Amino acid sequence: MTNPLLRALKREVVSPPPIWLMRQAGRYLPEYRALRAEAGDFLKLCYNPKFAAEVTLQPIRRYDLDAAIVFADILLVPHALGVGLRFAEGEGPKLDPVRDTAALARLSSPETVVAKLAPVYATLADVRAKLPKNVALIGFAGAPWTVATYMVEGGGSSDQAAAKLWAYRDPQGFALLMDRLVDATIVYLDHQIKAGADTLQLFESWASGLPEHMFETLCIRPAAKIVASVKALHPSVPIIGFPRGSGVLAVRYALETGIDAVGLDQSQPLHWMHGQVGNRVTLQGNLDPLALVAGGPALDRAVAGILAATKNVPFVFNLGHGIVPQTNPDEVARLVAMVRAGR
Ligand code: CP3
Repeated sequence: MTNPLLRALKREVVSPPPIWLMRQAGRYLPEYRALRAEAGDFLKLCYNPKFAAEVTLQPIRRYDLDAAIVFADILLVPHALGVGLRFAEGEGPKLDPVRDTAALARLSSPETVVAKLAPVYATLADVRAKLPKNVALIGFAGAPWTVATYMVEGGGSSDQAAAKLWAYRDPQGFALLMDRLVDATIVYLDHQIKAGADTLQLFESWASGLPEHMFETLCIRPAAKIVASVKALHPSVPIIGFPRGSGVLAVRYALETGIDAVGLDQSQPLHWMHGQVGNRVTLQGNLDPLALVAGGPALDRAVAGILAATKNVPFVFNLGHGIVPQTNPDEVARLVAMVRAGR
């Protein structure tokens, strides 16, 4: 096993650390915008394996990265379960809201992700065949709580109020939605591995603002079930968990879910986390995406700080959240070169 990312995920201290970037394919790249315009619609891009494979490979052609992440979206799972989904230009995703157990009865069974998301498996197989051996292929899914926040709200929200209120008022009903999502996610990830994914990331993008008991019920337990089920089928495939905005609760997430690596956002210090979990769990992160936008000396300082804090740590260099559209592609090249040079 020579791939640097996979070695680091097995708790090896790899120096210089492997690097990939969340949202490494996307609007900051002119070649992405061109293909997106040709496809016409974001979902068409996701469901067309030819386009999706090409977009997945675009950042690999430009940069010396250790991994490609399959081009898809966390909202394809609710879409496969029968929830109406559209991406309105400049507005973000819009879904037909699922607000009660009556709406749950209209969802299709978790097994529908096998047929409906076949284009994603085709993309993975195509990309794996085209990628150099030393570049890993990452599959992914949204974590059930994060996906549920979009389903219940009918789109993005700053406080996840609709999903939280359902969970407070009717915990049993909300648990039925969460169970459906856990089951669908397990089937989806199993098929991604069969199609060629070398590792997986679970995106818990809305782990912020939850009281500890809710974080345990809605984030830790579902992740633990998904990790245990996927590992029962594929014991050697490492899994990265990214509980964005979880603060100190990331320690419990790292130690109680069975994940191999924990992604930290820029507010969670790497040296602090290493003090909490030692080498039991690999750390990933956590450059502020806006330091990458700022570029110049601010970027140099931020990168040097991260590398200094992770000298003897099983570590994967990444951002604290996804690349933002206003990022200059040349600064990304500079970032990768700096990490490769170890400074
Ligand atoms: O390169 C990669 O990282 C792989 C592709 C990827 C996308 N979305 C493509 C995308 C991944 C891993 C995601 C995950 C995702 N999608 C998350 C979790 C990560 C995070 O950012 O917190 C979430 C919450 C979503 C849901 C989603 N998809 C939103 C809220 C939006 C709109 C906001 C935005 O950035 O436009 C999307 C659209 C989306 N997903 C785009 C891309 C490249 C932009 C679509 C466009 O071309 O206009």
